[in-house]
Amino acid sequence: MRITDTSDLWWKNAVIYCLDVETFFDSDGDGVGDFAGLAQRVDYLSELGVTCLWLMPFYPTPGKDDGYDVSDFYGVDPRLGTHGEVVELVRTAKDRGLRVIVDLLVNHTSDQHPWFKEARKSKDNPYRDYYVWRSDPPPDTSDQVVFPDQEDSIWEKDEKTGEWYLHHFYKHQPDLNIANRKVQDAIAKVMGFWLQLGIDGFRVDAVPFFLNDLGMSEREKHDFSEPHEYLRALRQFLQRRSGDAILLGEVNVPFEDQVAFFGGTNGDELTMMFDFVGMQAIYLSMARADARPLAEALRQRPLDRISPDSQYANFLRNHDELTLDKLSEDERQEVFAAFGPEPEMQLFGRGLKRRLPTMLEGDPRRLKMAYSLLFALPGTPVLFYGEEIGMGENLELPGRMAVRTPMQWTAEPDAGFSTAPARKLVAPIVTGGFGPEHVNVASARHDPDSLLRHITLMAQRYRECPELGWGDFRVLEQPVTAVLAHRCTWDEASMVLLHNLDPESVVVPLTLDDDEEGTLLVDLLQEGECRLDERRRVELALDGYGYRWLRVQRPGDRRLP
Ligand code: GLC
Repeated sequence: MRITDTSDLWWKNAVIYCLDVETFFDSDGDGVGDFAGLAQRVDYLSELGVTCLWLMPFYPTPGKDDGYDVSDFYGVDPRLGTHGEVVELVRTAKDRGLRVIVDLLVNHTSDQHPWFKEARKSKDNPYRDYYVWRSDPPPDTSDQVVFPDQEDSIWEKDEKTGEWYLHHFYKHQPDLNIANRKVQDAIAKVMGFWLQLGIDGFRVDAVPFFLNDLGMSEREKHDFSEPHEYLRALRQFLQRRSGDAILLGEVNVPFEDQVAFFGGTNGDELTMMFDFVGMQAIYLSMARADARPLAEALRQRPLDRISPDSQYANFLRNHDELTLDKLSEDERQEVFAAFGPEPEMQLFGRGLKRRLPTMLEGDPRRLKMAYSLLFALPGTPVLFYGEEIGMGENLELPGRMAVRTPMQWTAEPDAGFSTAPARKLVAPIVTGGFGPEHVNVASARHDPDSLLRHITLMAQRYRECPELGWGDFRVLEQPVTAVLAHRCTWDEASMVLLHNLDPESVVVPLTLDDDEEGTLLVDLLQEGECRLDERRRVELALDGYGYRWLRVQRPGDRRLP
């Protein structure tokens, strides 16, 4: 008996779309995107097939880490709008069937947050213990900094009190002491506040950084002997307030260590995690035109040790550098050589500043294959704004800002993003071959061959095929190394998916032992079907960078072909 429906665990086959309100659409002409503008573009996102928005931080901020340095967890950056406009946006989104999740910063605040301003006043200030302090000089921690171009230690001396505070990220982002019950309560209240405004969950920033006991006092270490208890408590609180809200965690750790962050088979910590390891394997596989690294990463997912309700979020690009930190040095150099050979394309020695279309030199076949793969992988796909039209980056902008340029709506020089003069824009519009005259929503909407149309189709098919988000999967054995062949099955529904990472066309022989002679494979992307022969074999042709989504159609199967 099946006691769940695909609408219950909505995150298992959501289409998530990440955007920054300030770069999406400026409705009032001040050069900065705003909530009112985003609300006007919800129909566009709905038509694209998005079912969940992920809003990057929109809270008041000194803006030294693009909003990840928050000075008020309850506020709205006045440049972007008001609480009233957030509510209007959430309401509009819900009306179109979209959920909204927002970034939750548990690890740190800005140094301009009132808690930190208080904390640094004196050693006995009531807020002192909201942060992590040490009184003796710290050892060399230069290998632990996240931004090696800016920082050389995770401890910064505070001159007034003569002690050092912990900061894994920039020195203006002091780490919160989450072993402190008051901090725990404060974070819960922040969650409660946004949930009450209608939010459907949180993208939890930098989880492994705050879930360690570094710098706690001995007493706190004792009280907090199991950091994962805190994550469990957060999840329980979330679920008490909102039964189907989620925590989507940023946890870039090896598969082995991910199990604990999901809460193992209990599934009582993070609901979802980004598959950073799989993402990096995709790039290695694309660079080599060899699907085996990706196949290996998929096989290594610790699925038998996590709850079936937990989920992986797949992505090709996010808002940060495209990190390649989980590859070996040689593998990373291979990806650099293929997709970002120039030093200005690389960041922190571990990642790339580019977006996918420039890495693939705008090759439409290869791009379409890559996005087909994103939607075909077992899990939930996550898009970063602008991916659907093939936006490029601006390498002249520092660091991660290179990929955070304004959304390109029209072919005009201001990309239809804002009516403000260029000098007033929140970030410059991309120029050159990937500028708005070549890459924009308006023309993509009218071009039947556009990437936008392709991704819209992929999103539709993904939603129609719950086996992709919900099912079991297997990498299928076959002899063509450039091809990833995998199968996803859930209940009666089953699919075979093929992706050719090589520019040459190939024929893939497959044997499907579990199926009967005569079973049909129905192509979901183009006209056509084929039948298993008496040895349950089939030969499938793929163009260079070709891809096929084939439904295994059993007798009596009434799903729409
Ligand atoms: C996460 C965010 C990143 C931010 C950092 C510090 O890694 O993705 O953009 O700089 O946390 O908050």
